[in-house]
Amino acid sequence: MKRQLFAAAATFVASLTMAPLAHAACAVDVTDPFELDAAAIDEIYTCLKDEMAEKYAKEGDEVAAAYRDWTVSSTRPAVAGAHGNRLLQTFANDVAAEQYLKFAEEGVEMPAGSVLAKESISISSKKKEARTGPLFIMTKGEEGSAPDTADWVYAGVQPNGKPMKFKQSFCHDCHVAWEAQDMLAYPLEEVRVSN
Ligand code: HEC
Repeated sequence: MKRQLFAAAATFVASLTMAPLAHAACAVDVTDPFELDAAAIDEIYTCLKDEMAEKYAKEGDEVAAAYRDWTVSSTRPAVAGAHGNRLLQTFANDVAAEQYLKFAEEGVEMPAGSVLAKESISISSKKKEARTGPLFIMTKGEEGSAPDTADWVYAGVQPNGKPMKFKQSFCHDCHVAWEAQDMLAYPLEEVRVSN
């Protein structure tokens, strides 16, 4: 009996010391991310929010360290389909925010120095859990600086803080579909913040 009590106490203490790591994955009760409703998404975001920003910033990436202080473009993360059916939420830096948050559909030209950072949450349907996905980044350079990608540079930070590796064309070939919006796809209409 005493022994059992001791074991229970030890487990309790261990759970206390492990508390900061306890949220590496958050339980979800759907297998299809499109079935998540707003309340379920809020719950997931509350569970992962703090550790996401910490993870991205772990290796000193400048955007990762700054983006949470930028202007958020949606009322909550949402699943759009692209980017692996992940929950997505985009932040715009000071240079980008005014134009980005207009969500304009024609003749958009983002100013050089614009940065959009999009955090993501992966839902594993097998394990029924939510985890931090990559941070996706688009940076607009000076005119002529990257002619193949309309002066955008695409980048990504993994949840371990390290840069993602991919070809610029991998991202741009899809984003070019929104050419009239200067390659920007914008958040789903139902979650856009009103400007
Ligand atoms: C198959 C199409 C597709 C590919 C490939 C793709 N994206 Fe996107 N991207 C989208 C869509 C759709 C959105 C808007 C959805 C949302 O944020 O809710 C988006 C949004 C973004 C945003 C927020 C700015 C915006 O467009 O509104 C960033 C930043 C971004 N993507 C970066 C990247 C990077 C970096 C890559 C390559 C690693 C990439 N994307 C590959 C479709 C794609």
